[in-house]
Amino acid sequence: MTQIATFQIGASEVDELIMLINDYSGYDFSDYSMPSLHRRFQRYIDLNKISDFKQLLQDLMNDSSMINNLIEEITVNVTEIFRDPTFFATIRSELVPTLNKLPLIKIWHAGCATGEEVYSMAILLKEHNLLNKSIIYATDINQSVLDTARLGKYSIESFQENEINYRDSEGTNKLSDYYSVSNGEILINEDLKSNIIFSTHNLVSDSAFNHFDLIICRNVLIYFNKVLQDNVLQMFYNSLNENGILAIGSKETIMFSPIENRMQTLNAKWKIWKKKV
Ligand SMILES: C[S@@+](CC[C@H](N)C(=O)[O-])C[C@H]1O[C@@H](n2cnc3c(N)ncnc32)[C@H](O)[C@@H]1O
Repeated sequence: MTQIATFQIGASEVDELIMLINDYSGYDFSDYSMPSLHRRFQRYIDLNKISDFKQLLQDLMNDSSMINNLIEEITVNVTEIFRDPTFFATIRSELVPTLNKLPLIKIWHAGCATGEEVYSMAILLKEHNLLNKSIIYATDINQSVLDTARLGKYSIESFQENEINYRDSEGTNKLSDYYSVSNGEILINEDLKSNIIFSTHNLVSDSAFNHFDLIICRNVLIYFNKVLQDNVLQMFYNSLNENGILAIGSKETIMFSPIENRMQTLNAKWKIWKKKV
């Protein structure tokens, strides 16, 4: 069998693809991290065995579903239930007492992907009797991951593999208490969904839409360049209530950003800050 040599893209091709996506879909990826975009475009080219770059541009211009596939490839959707369990254990021990005092808890999960993170939070809130007084907005740029999130339907394997995450998050029950199994798939219990609003929101171009007591945006800023990270952090700051809490991913930071001096560190390891009054 002859092996097709795929095209190796350089910086100018990355720019061409960013421009084409912007022209044909309206999504602006120009402030995403260039090394990350480069890797993701190359991955798309390799997976689809593309050897002719000009032909790729032509095909993308003629087929909007190809553009959508490419966008899905570059907006990395990896997630899991109770990802970084100690983060959730920290929320239980350090944030729940504060959240407990609020009459209503407004939470925003920005970049929620297929929803496992937001269901982890809903389970945690339920276990601390806080779910009924919570409103959780779960947003993402990518419509298809939001469709999965809304359904709350996952493979059994993905949950079984991560059952240990739930225990390590100091969950008080069994993870299986929160879903049923149907046709070999997991269905999240309806009561966990009732306080969650799933919606598209693009952190690049959409503005703040509410005020929150807790904003969680993990493993999203790493895909942005410094300019976009700073803009998004400023938007989060503007969207926090007084004493509102921001949690980002363990590899992300607010240091050297415009909001650094206006936030108080609550947990340095898990990148949790409180808005200073
Ligand atoms: C790696 S996942 C993180 C999921 C989850 N927060 C977690 O940590 O497990 C990154 C998510 O950010 C979303 N994303 C990327 N760019 C975005 C943007 N401009 N606005 C909103 N969401 C975006 C992607 O679609 C993807 O679902």
